[in-house]
Amino acid sequence: MLPRLCVLWGLLAAGSLRAETGSNAWLRYAALDDAAVRQYRETVPAVILEVNNSAVTQRAGQELIWGVRGMLGRTLRAEPRLPGESTLVLGTLAALRQALPQFQLAASLGQDGFWLKTVTAGGRRHLIVAAENDRGVLYGAFALLRKIGLGEPIENLDEKQSPYAPIRWVNQWDNLDGSIERGYGGSSIFWENGHAREDLSRVSDYGRLLASLGINGCAINNVNSDPRILAPDFITEAARIADALRPWGVRVALSVDFGSPKTLGGLETFDPLDPRVIAWWQAKVEELYRIIPDLGGLVIKADSEGRVGPSAYGRTHADAANVVARALKPHGGIIFYRGFVYDHHMDWSNPKNDRARAAYDNFQPLDGQFDDNVVIQIKNGPIDFQVREPVSPLFGTLEKTNQAIELQITQEYTGQARHLVYLVPMWKEILDFDMRARDDTTPVKALAAGRVFNRPAGGFVGVANVGLDENWLGNHLSQANLYGFGRLAWDPGLSAQRITEEWTRLTFGSNPKVVQTISGMQLQSWRVYENYTGPLGLQTLTDITGNHYGVAVEASERNGWGQWHRADEKGVGMDRTVTTGTGFTGQYRPAVARTYESLETCPDDLVLFFHHVPYTYKLHSGKTVIQYIYDSHYEGATAVEEFVHEWKSLATLVDGQRYKEILEQLEYQAGQAMVWRDAVANWFFRTSGISDAKGRVGHYPGRYEAEGMKLEGYVVTEVTPWEAASGGKAIECRAARCSASFQYDGAPGWYTLNVQYFDQNNGAAHYRLLVGNQILDEWSASEHLPTQKIDGSSSMRRTIPGIALRPGDQIRIEGLPDGGETAALDFIEIRKEP
Ligand code: GCU
Repeated sequence: MLPRLCVLWGLLAAGSLRAETGSNAWLRYAALDDAAVRQYRETVPAVILEVNNSAVTQRAGQELIWGVRGMLGRTLRAEPRLPGESTLVLGTLAALRQALPQFQLAASLGQDGFWLKTVTAGGRRHLIVAAENDRGVLYGAFALLRKIGLGEPIENLDEKQSPYAPIRWVNQWDNLDGSIERGYGGSSIFWENGHAREDLSRVSDYGRLLASLGINGCAINNVNSDPRILAPDFITEAARIADALRPWGVRVALSVDFGSPKTLGGLETFDPLDPRVIAWWQAKVEELYRIIPDLGGLVIKADSEGRVGPSAYGRTHADAANVVARALKPHGGIIFYRGFVYDHHMDWSNPKNDRARAAYDNFQPLDGQFDDNVVIQIKNGPIDFQVREPVSPLFGTLEKTNQAIELQITQEYTGQARHLVYLVPMWKEILDFDMRARDDTTPVKALAAGRVFNRPAGGFVGVANVGLDENWLGNHLSQANLYGFGRLAWDPGLSAQRITEEWTRLTFGSNPKVVQTISGMQLQSWRVYENYTGPLGLQTLTDITGNHYGVAVEASERNGWGQWHRADEKGVGMDRTVTTGTGFTGQYRPAVARTYESLETCPDDLVLFFHHVPYTYKLHSGKTVIQYIYDSHYEGATAVEEFVHEWKSLATLVDGQRYKEILEQLEYQAGQAMVWRDAVANWFFRTSGISDAKGRVGHYPGRYEAEGMKLEGYVVTEVTPWEAASGGKAIECRAARCSASFQYDGAPGWYTLNVQYFDQNNGAAHYRLLVGNQILDEWSASEHLPTQKIDGSSSMRRTIPGIALRPGDQIRIEGLPDGGETAALDFIEIRKEP
């Protein structure tokens, strides 16, 4: 019963091209090796029967046909009834019992759960994908395909799986104009120029990716919501998006502005206790459900970062959440009320002020006051998706309130998909962290899922922000974060190693060298990034009032945003202790609070998050804080160079397009890691006055500063922040063409020339490198980096290997400005080749 064969054939044609653009992500269904094909051809039946024939179960059948065809080169034959031969049968338990009572299928699986079962009946062996509901059938189909893709045995199956938590959602921060807040993979797949996109085929493709992981919901617009989303014409547009996701078992939610009764509804108030406001929400929600009958619910960000909220009327967050929850209740909808509430105008000069306290201070006193269909959506840490934070104390302290943990798949503070940062190891640490909320073990995952205090709702929300780019997230390796989030939301007990290997094998094939190399890089990458951007709990030392990307060590200080690290000439770190600091540690349950309160027991990785210490303070490792900062930055930058070498060893083992694109990304990252290394190390060196015991900081052999070269047309400029450029200075060309030259004075030999220049997004300046009169390289600065300024975000490296140099050689760089770009240059570094 697969009437939509034309759709299927379309998919097959696309699949067989194997363009390897990354668009199929982990659902490539690439041909398995001969041995595996032989083995599975014996066990996978030739016939498929799908008994429910709903939109969702049809997808399950189609996917199995497509996947088996791709991996095993066999096209399953779809039959409307059980034939007299071995069959792959799919259906809900209820439908299977009715249609095929001889299978005697009895099980209790739970919502969205499935059962892969080999059954012998009438002398034939059948392979059954049974489930409690349609969605479970789809999940079972994907699980079976995954097993085949991973080479796992399927001859004698009896495997039941059900999800750890009911809420397994992604959020998209898409704006109605088609841009995406903190999205790095292109424009919105949902919206364009203030409307739902005409062509929603990528939405359906996204639904397929989500379904393959068991993700069952998606919020389709930015938490910083445009009130128009609730206007009647927009609801109809949102309904089209819901239609595209529905066959994949994915429900949609809308993010709404709490001021909507006033801004959109024309009332003079949005006071949640005002009867007119109550009536407005009720009528609006009725209207929503008339048009989107299976709407999952609404997301609200209130009283945060300039969004209006209940504080305008002296009401509580419970008042705000409940007014919407009560409107949603009769329709089975949920309100995801965000716990990300804080004051971004805090007085930074008051040492007792602390943004980390905000979520707990705002929500914990309201425990018990939220309705049962309210879920407080809590970011993993108390600040904001930093490279490392402790877990939010709120998880352990809400007992009578539903909660969900919000994790960030999109790499906002973690390299914006230009750096390899695989977040599953971080998430595992967070989810497994024991909050000591009761006498027994109470890990964050169990609290978020509502298992500890028996809550009716709870689970996992990932801020995904995929876009129209073919590879979805702006970089092939970043897809692993979406995969990993989904797998953990389904089963947080899976190990990081397991998830990584699964993803690598499905995405790049099972060659052991490929699997080992890519998994190894992925698993190290979070620590590596932390090492060069913000170790010891400093948080990501980036431009926090701007693009959250490049290095800017002081951007967090002396402003109201509260991401302070309080580094000064004597010491560094935020004192968050109860004894002498902000008291934040006291928000944890006593056993956890004690660990963080004392320097003796506070883990090194978080020491500067919880304590202010002198630079000479000795960590548990025996190293001083300052030396750790230097060492970790050098280790991090060296590790990325190593990633480049490792990746190169896969040149013949990965398809050409992805090989090349990932190589370019890693080479870029290696250059950026060095910029970070030098910036942070120099900043702390200047501030602390303490030298690097290994003599590296401030000494850069082979480096020729641009400001020290012979300049024609170029002028020297001060860079802000100073640490973003070597020596704090760069040169800019404010004429039509400029040049900078110097005489090489080293030994003769083969060298690599690294040219450090700046590539803003407001032009495409042109550069040329010459030795003597010979042009050795030329290029344009045309990347789309997130800045129009000469700073850490625009700093770029051009690597020119294999150059023979002799003492006395004239090295010259020529720059041609374009648009707002002044062909700026930081330095040239000459490295001897081995
Ligand atoms: C971060 C992010 C914002 C976002 C906010 C949120 O602060 O930078 O763009 O709106 O989180 O989660 O609400």
